[in-house]
Amino acid sequence: MKRIYFIIISLMVSLIFCACGSSKPEQNTETETATVQEKSNDHLYDGRTVVGISMPDRILERWNRDGAFLKEQFENSGCEVILKYSDNLIDKQITGLEEMIEKGADLLVVAAVDGSALSGTLETAHENGVKVIAYDRLLMDTDAVDYYVSFDNYKVGYLQASYIVSSLGLKTSEQPKYIEFVTGDPVDNNARFFYNGAMDTLKPYVDSGKLVVASGQTGFYETSTAQWSSDIAQQRIQIILNSYYPDGARLDAVLCANDSTALGVKRALETDYTGKNNVVLTGQDADIANIYNILDHTQSMTVFKALDQEAVVTEVLAKSVLSGTTPGEDLIKEADWDFTCTYNTTDYNNGVKVVPSYLLRPVAVTYDNLEKELFDTGYYARNSSGLIYSVKSDTPDQSVDDD
Ligand code: GAL
Repeated sequence: MKRIYFIIISLMVSLIFCACGSSKPEQNTETETATVQEKSNDHLYDGRTVVGISMPDRILERWNRDGAFLKEQFENSGCEVILKYSDNLIDKQITGLEEMIEKGADLLVVAAVDGSALSGTLETAHENGVKVIAYDRLLMDTDAVDYYVSFDNYKVGYLQASYIVSSLGLKTSEQPKYIEFVTGDPVDNNARFFYNGAMDTLKPYVDSGKLVVASGQTGFYETSTAQWSSDIAQQRIQIILNSYYPDGARLDAVLCANDSTALGVKRALETDYTGKNNVVLTGQDADIANIYNILDHTQSMTVFKALDQEAVVTEVLAKSVLSGTTPGEDLIKEADWDFTCTYNTTDYNNGVKVVPSYLLRPVAVTYDNLEKELFDTGYYARNSSGLIYSVKSDTPDQSVDDD
C-alpha cells in the first residue's frame, strides 16, 4: 500500500516540476526556438510563411512590375504575401513595414523610398527574427539587412555614357559637343552608382573640352532629380535651355539617369529647345512609355533590367535564408539560371557593413536591338491594335494591401 502512495506522490511531484520548474525556461526557450524554427521550417512554403514586400510607389512604371513579379514568385512558392506601395512617402513605408512585422512576416523584401530612413524599423524586424532583403536599392546605415539583390548599378551609368561616346563620335570628333546631365534621386543609393558609372566614362571628355556642359552643372547634387520626378527634370532642363541654349544654340545630348526623367526632358525639348538637331537622350528601365519614344526616335536608348529575373533571384535567395542557411556564390551555382547573376561582397557598403549582394546584368536597348531584347524574349508583346504590354506582369491580380 505504502509503495503505491510513494509512486503517486513522486508522480505528482514531477508533474508539478514540469509545469513551473526552474530549468524549464531554457528548455522552453529551446523548445520555443525549436518551435519557431520548427514552425518556420515546418510551414516553410506550405503557404504559411509570410513575406512582406514593400515597394516605393506606383507612379514610376517599373515598381508595379516588380511588385507583380515578386508577388507571383513568392505565391507560387506557397508563401502568404503582403504587398504594399508607399506613394514615395517615408512614413507610409515605415507604417507598412511595421504592419508586416505585426502580421508575422518571416521575411521583408524592401525597395526603399529613402535608403537611410528605415534603420529603426529594420532593427525591430531583426529583433523579431525577421530576415531582410534590400531589393534593388540598398538599405543604408543599418546592420539589420541580410542581403541585397539588384543590377550592376555602376554598369548602368557606364552603358548610358558609352552610348553617348559612340553616338556623338567623341573618340574622333574635332568639334566640341554639348551635353547636360539629369541624375537621380539623391536619397536613392543607386543614383550615386549610376552617376559614377557615367561620369567615370565622360569626365575625361569634359576635362579635354571635347564635351562642354554649358550650364556648368556636373555635380551629383546639382544635377539630381528628387523622387526621379519627370516634372522636376522637365522644369530644370527648361531653365537650362532658356538660360544657356537661346537662339538656336546647339545641344547634342542629355544624359538622363532613368526613363521617368527622360520623359520630362523630352517634354522640355519639345517646348523650349530652339536648336535644329535631334538631341541624344538616354534612359533606364525600358518603361513602355519610353519604348514608344525610342520607336519614334524621340529617345535614343534605355537600359533594360529584366525585373522578372530580379524577382526570381530574390525568391530563391529568400527560400535559402528562411531555411536557415547563409547562401553565397553557391546559390548561383545551384540555381543554374539561364541569365547572368554575380555574387558581390565588396561594392555595396551601406555605411555600417558591406552587404552581400546578388547583381544582375543590365542591357543597353536602342531602336536596333529593341525587338530582340524586349519582344523576342517575351518580356513585352503587342496586342491586336499594336499597344505594347508586359506579358508577365500586366495580367496577374495585383491585389495590394494598400490602406
Ligand atoms: C532606381 C532603380 C531604377 C529606376 C529608379 C527610379 O533605384 O534602380 O531602375 O527605376 O530607381 O525608380
